[in-house]
Amino acid sequence: MAAVRLLLLLLFIFSLLTTPSLSIGEDIHLLEFKESLKDPISLDSTWIKDTNPCDPKKPWEGVDCSDTAFKSVSALLLMNLGLSGDGGDLDMDALGNLESLRIISLENNTFSGVLPEFNRLGSLKSLFLSGNQFSGEIPQDFFDKMGSLKKLHLSRNKFSGTIPGSLTRLDNLMELFLQQNEFSGPVPVFGQKSLQTIDLSGNKLQGEIPEGMSRFPAKAFDGNPDLCGTVVSKDCVAPEKNAGQPDGSGSVTKWVILAVVVGVLLVTILFKAKKEDENFRVLGKENLDEVVQVHMPTSSSSNKRSGSSTRRGGGGGGGGGGYNEPGSQSSSRRGSGGGKSNNDLVVINEEKGVFGLPDLMKAAAEVLGSGGMGSAYKAIMANGVSVVVKRMRDMNKLNKDAFEAEIRRLGRIRHRNILPPLAYHYRKEEKLLITEFIPKGSLLFLLHGDRGIGHAELNWPTRLKIIKGVARGMGFLHTEFANYELPHGNLKSSNILLSQNYEPLLTDYALYSLISNTQSIQALFAYKSPEAVLFQQLSPKSDVYCLGIVVLEIMTGKFPSQYLNNQKGGTDVVQWAGQAISEGRVSELIDPEIVNGSDSLEQMEKMLYIGTECTESDHEKRIEMREAIRHIEEVHV
Ligand SMILES: *[C@@H]1O[C@H](CO)[C@@H](O)[C@H](O)[C@H]1NC(C)=O
Ligand SMILES: *[C@@H]1O[C@H](CO)[C@@H](O)[C@H](O)[C@H]1NC(C)=O
Repeated sequence: MAAVRLLLLLLFIFSLLTTPSLSIGEDIHLLEFKESLKDPISLDSTWIKDTNPCDPKKPWEGVDCSDTAFKSVSALLLMNLGLSGDGGDLDMDALGNLESLRIISLENNTFSGVLPEFNRLGSLKSLFLSGNQFSGEIPQDFFDKMGSLKKLHLSRNKFSGTIPGSLTRLDNLMELFLQQNEFSGPVPVFGQKSLQTIDLSGNKLQGEIPEGMSRFPAKAFDGNPDLCGTVVSKDCVAPEKNAGQPDGSGSVTKWVILAVVVGVLLVTILFKAKKEDENFRVLGKENLDEVVQVHMPTSSSSNKRSGSSTRRGGGGGGGGGGYNEPGSQSSSRRGSGGGKSNNDLVVINEEKGVFGLPDLMKAAAEVLGSGGMGSAYKAIMANGVSVVVKRMRDMNKLNKDAFEAEIRRLGRIRHRNILPPLAYHYRKEEKLLITEFIPKGSLLFLLHGDRGIGHAELNWPTRLKIIKGVARGMGFLHTEFANYELPHGNLKSSNILLSQNYEPLLTDYALYSLISNTQSIQALFAYKSPEAVLFQQLSPKSDVYCLGIVVLEIMTGKFPSQYLNNQKGGTDVVQWAGQAISEGRVSELIDPEIVNGSDSLEQMEKMLYIGTECTESDHEKRIEMREAIRHIEEVHV
């Protein structure tokens, strides 16, 4: 008997040794990833549940496994398979579970949307995404957590915006293909010794190619008409357009005029700023279209530089071109030195690099619009970081020291759903608050923007994710600032920004302590809560009311009249929801975009009901933030 048992035990141990144990369970994660693709029919016949993706006799299409005793998935080579899907939808959590995965290729398929969050896979060595339809800006810091990356191919897509500065910090990068996209802005200096091959051709890059890039051949920069410099044997001082520009001096004049316009604009923004904004409406829908674009190409300022200084005398390691260098080190030295001066920016959060007021003055500026607190501008710094500059009038409730202490406190916050300020500038008459620019924009814009971009993208799972993220951010603020009357105070859809992956980011929080009473009434949405309007009473429950409005806004897809000062226009979502629910017509409230053909009606109704609980007009009967969050967490897809 014992002998039989021993034999069985030995057999069992033997079977453990010969079957590839690590890949057990990897089929599940691969299938989860497949679920997030659009119509992955090319994978249907081999990607089969409960089979081993690493079985050499029945290999899964495009799956490569490590060549060790315990096989596990090491590469996903899904080239030319007619696959598609939205970059924001791809299930990175699933891929994150594949511990040995080092190589991913989706080359020559038809994926679209934003660059998927591959940066959550920190040990990837090769990422090949060429030949798809990916588009949009890539966040500057996107590659900061991908230190293992050796090969990155993004060619033949539609990526735009500046080349992410984080690429210049990848110390193992050997091969970088960015050709045939729509990248614009300056060419950064790729100083890493590992980098052997780079291709930036066929983009819309501008300005002088830095000396530090002269070790790469000219063809790496082909097909960028606005690039100049010795590397491409094109003089920078008088930029001639290749075609259709009859008169070179004419275009120079144009740049000069533009530069002057921008200069005047920035001087007005930063130093004068006496003129009050005449039409100071709170977030009218109309404002969404009032985006005035003023763009000063980086080339014009670098032209002037290279024009005024004679040819660079070597400069020992390229230090001469300080402005053109995206290396955050040079600007950080400059910035932190100046940070002590009264007239400069004070950087409180160095995650996006350190910059000073001079960087801001040089940056290309774009007016984003005006809101309850002041005006907002977008600026692209020399180091490639895009920021939003909010100009706030007054804010003199606290003295300078107290103000600074408070802003630093706001800037120290770290939470997945909170966007802390990066820097500020203090003057008695006005303050500037600098935050990172989030390309996707605000929830307000996505839900109600004219072009309706995003409205259809915002399906029920995405909306639920946004509501939950907002709730978690609020929960965090209500813990962090538990002793404040208004831990947030200004929650509304225009202050909810969305990351690439639709993770909500709350901004403009906890400003209540900084601004005067009269200004608060104008500027903070919490002052629209019934208790504030009727009895001038405020409490953390006013934040609950604001959360309720956002929930109703997201669920109905309607623009809440509560956001408007005069309540003319928009939909009174509170009244509408209250009435429909009392008459048993809840489903009529739900945005047709998400209700169609859905089997989640019950969950959606539950969420609507939470929205009405939060907007209960009697604040004594209204639920607490903690309770609201708990209810929201209970809703599922
Ligand atoms: C993808 O397509 C391009 C252009 O058609 C081709 O040169 C390249 O070899 C293809 N890549 C793969 C991996 O098949
Ligand atoms: C709802 O879905 C059906 C079938 O997919 C479609 O024909 C109809 O136009 C959709 N309605 C709305 C309001 O989107």
